[in-house]
Amino acid sequence: LYGDERLNSSGINLADREIQNRLIHALGQACQQSWQAAPIVNGDILTGKQQTRLNPANHRDAIGEVLLADLSAVDRAFSIAHSAAPKWANNSASERAALLERAADLFEEKCTELMARIMREGGRTLHDALNEVREAIDFCRYYAVQARRHFEHPIVLPGITGEMNQLRLVGRGVFVCISPWNFPVAIFTGQIVAALAAGNCVIAKPAALTSLCAGYVVSLLHEAGIPKDVLHFLPGRGDEIGMKLVSDARIAGVAFTGSTSTARQINQILAQGERIVPLIAETGGQNCMIVDSSALPEQVVKDAIASAFNSAGQRCSALRVLFLQQEIAPQILTMLSGAMDELCIGNPMNFTTDIGPVISSAACKELRQHCDRMNSEARQIKIASLSQSHAEGSYFAPCVYEIERLDQLKKEVFGPVLHVIRYQADQLDKVVEDINNSGYGLTLGIHSRIDATIDYITRHTHCGNSYVNRNIIGAVVGSQPFGGEGLSGTGPKAGGPHYLQRFATERVVTVNT
Ligand code: SER
Repeated sequence: LYGDERLNSSGINLADREIQNRLIHALGQACQQSWQAAPIVNGDILTGKQQTRLNPANHRDAIGEVLLADLSAVDRAFSIAHSAAPKWANNSASERAALLERAADLFEEKCTELMARIMREGGRTLHDALNEVREAIDFCRYYAVQARRHFEHPIVLPGITGEMNQLRLVGRGVFVCISPWNFPVAIFTGQIVAALAAGNCVIAKPAALTSLCAGYVVSLLHEAGIPKDVLHFLPGRGDEIGMKLVSDARIAGVAFTGSTSTARQINQILAQGERIVPLIAETGGQNCMIVDSSALPEQVVKDAIASAFNSAGQRCSALRVLFLQQEIAPQILTMLSGAMDELCIGNPMNFTTDIGPVISSAACKELRQHCDRMNSEARQIKIASLSQSHAEGSYFAPCVYEIERLDQLKKEVFGPVLHVIRYQADQLDKVVEDINNSGYGLTLGIHSRIDATIDYITRHTHCGNSYVNRNIIGAVVGSQPFGGEGLSGTGPKAGGPHYLQRFATERVVTVNT
């Protein structure tokens, strides 16, 4: 599709034992340090209330300090970004693209440093961390290509004789980017570089829980040459800094990834503003996988485990509900339970770890409350075992419950909890209807070898990303543009060919020649 213009990041060859050992050694070195992050406005490092960050895998490991921006920093960031916006929007797209490509190179060079932060602050495994850095690099390079393709030259449109019509895509002004903790580098970077590539200035508000990762990304973007008056960084609480940012009259748009309820709140605040500005929101999911009796059981189990439990289930794409056709259900459930005994749950720093901790003790508590409810309302199929050592961090044992109906799940359960629902062969249309009725529409899995079934499901489900006979996580930039519909978001797909346009405004110039 993109010829030789762009290649996805190749990452590191972890199959080579020597390279693997060198990486693990370098990660160990990087994790000896204590990290800091502070608000940055116009390149100035500001001070603020100090917060200590703990390693989710080991709560005794204090990994660094974050200084939280105070509300006065919002006004300062807006006024500088607002003044910088016209110049940045009028730079050629290829100049902006070149800076993004420089950032990608720098991310590649600093891969270990980035991975160390993702693992130690975000609790992600080594494999997740590497894939996340690769995704961030891919976003930079992909949006650079897209910016050159769509923003560099105006589109010439037809007109009557003596008239010239041109359509241009132009940055909107100051974009506020609010990102989640579950992809502290990839999503944080993706939002910012998309807004920048389209010609906007950016004020970035990272998730409070992963501001050390985010602060490091901003330092790399500045080092790559993104002007300091164009990109500002305000760590802080969503209900303080975040809400103040989206209430500012100078705002030109918001890119938000997080919960559906916060997206709704942002939408309401924006609606009260004087200007009518876009919200690009990517929110949660109640993601399902439909498995009929023609599916290959080994493949189903492998894909269900990866989809539900990788990254401790803390992906918006993760599998929450596995629909099993009655005929195949007993076999799948037996195999699934057996496979869960093999999961290696532990320190993200270990190469063999499959599943690390969840992000915080509060997240653990919320998951426990859900499982308490499931213990009385549902049939417990399996709970993976944890040992005493897991008590050092916020570990949560992957588990599986069988429920009767999808509407027993009132909201997204953001962790390694898989629900199973059995269905009869003649109930497929009801399964599809129930999935649609959940209101969410992010990812969907189908395991079937019957083309008509696959075709029926993909045509009738309202869903942003459907995956057939594979897992449902890990969308690749440029190949699987990612984003949902309904309660799952406003639609534009990150890593897709139409994303940057959503950050821009269109201007038409008609000249009577
Ligand atoms: N893009 C991620 C995935 O596909 C989720 O945010 O898993």
